[in-house]
Amino acid sequence: MTEISVNGGKRLSGEISVQGAKNSVLPVLAATLLCGGESVIHNCPELSDVETSLKILRHLGCKCSKEGSTVTVDSGSITAYDIPDSLMREMRSSVVFLGAVIGRTGKAVISSPGGCELGPRPIDLHLSSLEQMGVTIQEEHGFLNCTAEKGLHGAEIHLSFPSVGATENIILAAATAEGSTVIHNAAKEPEISDLADFLNRAGARIYGSGSDTINIYGVKKLGGTEHTIIPDRIAAATYMACAAVTGGSVTLNSIMPPHMMSVLWCFKECGCAVVSSGGSVRLTAPSKLRRVPTVRSLVYPGFPTDAGPVAVAMLSAAEGTSVFVENIFENRFRYIDELKRFGAKIKTEGKIAVIEGTDRLSGVHCKATDLRGGAALVIAALRADGESRIGEIHHIERGYDDIVGNLSALGADIKYSGD
Ligand code: EPZ
Repeated sequence: MTEISVNGGKRLSGEISVQGAKNSVLPVLAATLLCGGESVIHNCPELSDVETSLKILRHLGCKCSKEGSTVTVDSGSITAYDIPDSLMREMRSSVVFLGAVIGRTGKAVISSPGGCELGPRPIDLHLSSLEQMGVTIQEEHGFLNCTAEKGLHGAEIHLSFPSVGATENIILAAATAEGSTVIHNAAKEPEISDLADFLNRAGARIYGSGSDTINIYGVKKLGGTEHTIIPDRIAAATYMACAAVTGGSVTLNSIMPPHMMSVLWCFKECGCAVVSSGGSVRLTAPSKLRRVPTVRSLVYPGFPTDAGPVAVAMLSAAEGTSVFVENIFENRFRYIDELKRFGAKIKTEGKIAVIEGTDRLSGVHCKATDLRGGAALVIAALRADGESRIGEIHHIERGYDDIVGNLSALGADIKYSGD
């Protein structure tokens, strides 16, 4: 199955349950390394990034099994401390294993993570923070050799940018370090709190997650535990945009509306009726989507950068001109050239995209450039007249669990095609 094909114009309706959060399950799987026993993780989405994480855990000596959406990891005996280059390349976010491997073994070898489809992905904040905790890092031949000769110790760390990954790596390294660690200007994303909840269940002492100051008091040992991953707020935003562009009315279950207030605002701004109740949200689209004058991506609780491509695709079909400003990543607009093949009228200048809405999108052959850019193409295809075919769908499968099955369940004419 190398492509997704869509016959657009079908109005979506019905209800689905939203997957567990990709950006939570990855750091939580890394954290199981610290537990020295068996951990059971529920609500794990079926994603290639999860498969890659399990490959890394197995390489390190863990026993991993999966039954439906429940993953069990036994990290009783760790026999390695390097992350193979091939796996680092498969998933850029494997850098989040760094803190856990050093925390468990006192050393780690990783290849310098290359850039990715979003532009350079520096890890300077990760490395400088770990150095403050007693890690020495030598770079040679593209590999980072990290050792904490005297073990990890706590530190007072100020992040110049509230990096999600750096915050996670510091928490992972500090959980069993000697002494206490404070993170100032920490990332506040819900996935950080989910990681802290998992570790606290395992015996860690982490306070303040979800705020910009996090205190971690190192403990001697962590034990295996059980945890359920929070819902994926970006997948939820994606399915809402699919309904919005098709004039549909859908209910999404197993979500956490408080995690996506800035996204719900955007849907209401363009005329959708959005009703949240408990762990569900119901979106009913207007006959014509209204433009949203300006949407800016910001760190949480601002509008999430990962929902940017989703919003741009939706606003391509709105009445009037909207502006999207990407403030987090340097090169997040690569998907826009593919969107324009549908007839979307978008001009980009640096970090600004000006979207002149049109009701004339037509089906095309296109290719996903990255995970969320691929989701944007699916949204455009659902709106466009005629058939679309989307290639390079491995990007999409990194972050969406059964997107074809979910959209079919909502009435989309969508299927895999190709060999
Ligand atoms: C996480 O990436 C997410 N990935 C990203 O989701 C998400 O877009 C991003 O956070 C922002 O919310 C995972 O959680 C696996 P950052 P991360 O460190 O940790 C700069 C998706 O589609 N920076 O907060 O890499 C960096 O260049 C993915 O699901 C440094 O300069 O994001 C970027 O401009 C895409 N030095 C900004 O900070 C560093 O050491 C945000 O990066 C680290 C980051």
